[in-house]
Amino acid sequence: VSIIETIVSQTTLSIHGCGNLLFLDKANTEMNSDVKWSLEEEICRVAGSINFMDSLIKLNLIEQGAESFSIVRDKHWVPGGSETYIYRFWIKYDDGGEYGYILKACIALSPGRNGDEIVREWVRRRMMIQSTGVQTPRLVAHKRGILLEELVPYKLEEVLHQLSRVPESILHSLARWAGVLSALGFAAIDPFSDLRSHGNDIVVVDFGEDLGPAHACRRPSAARPFARS
Ligand SMILES: Nc1ncnc2c1ncn2[C@@H]1O[C@H](COP(=O)(O)OP(=O)(O)O)[C@@H](O)[C@H]1O
Ligand SMILES: [Mg+2]
Repeated sequence: VSIIETIVSQTTLSIHGCGNLLFLDKANTEMNSDVKWSLEEEICRVAGSINFMDSLIKLNLIEQGAESFSIVRDKHWVPGGSETYIYRFWIKYDDGGEYGYILKACIALSPGRNGDEIVREWVRRRMMIQSTGVQTPRLVAHKRGILLEELVPYKLEEVLHQLSRVPESILHSLARWAGVLSALGFAAIDPFSDLRSHGNDIVVVDFGEDLGPAHACRRPSAARPFARS
């Protein structure tokens, strides 16, 4: 039984429509502790390998020959937003190095499309956005409705609250993000509140329904900014 099936079976199936998508109302905020799921098995599944260490190496999560590391992990999968459950873990080295990762299980329902197809669509949007120079988290792998990617440590909002002056790098990146949304015709719902950051940049993490498909709204015409009717 996959983690997605487990999440869905533990979730109150009060389904409401929203555009083309159906979302699950998440009554439970935590998975039952008796769920038979392990990070090790999930990593092996995502890597397509039976050995955990081999899987870590295959996914580039550790280097060949690395020995002195430990894995710190979340206790449970928890709801991310309306379309995901998330689980975070950190690979910690004895020399102090620490690398965080996040597993995202897609629980969005869409008629005629399974979780894997929805995630593939999210990845397509992500690639399109990334190619414009907007930062996205390093994608490690995705398989059967599950994404494994770099954990971006801070919420952009928290970073901004701690700064007395917003750095130019962040202002430029925000302007670029706004421009890319417009140029690619995304009719995004609240595309700025879910942004994350490494401290001096912005990273876009949500490519689901909050962003929606590209070319949903007409691109503004630069050639005719004041066209007469
Ligand atoms: N790469 C990431 N690094 C850190 N936190 C993340 C990352 N991706 C998602 N999150 C966290 O998980 C939440 C849900 O992820 P998101 O992709 O927005 O899914 P949803 O479509 O369910 O809103 C985000 O609001 C953010 O807090
Ligand atoms: Mg979100």
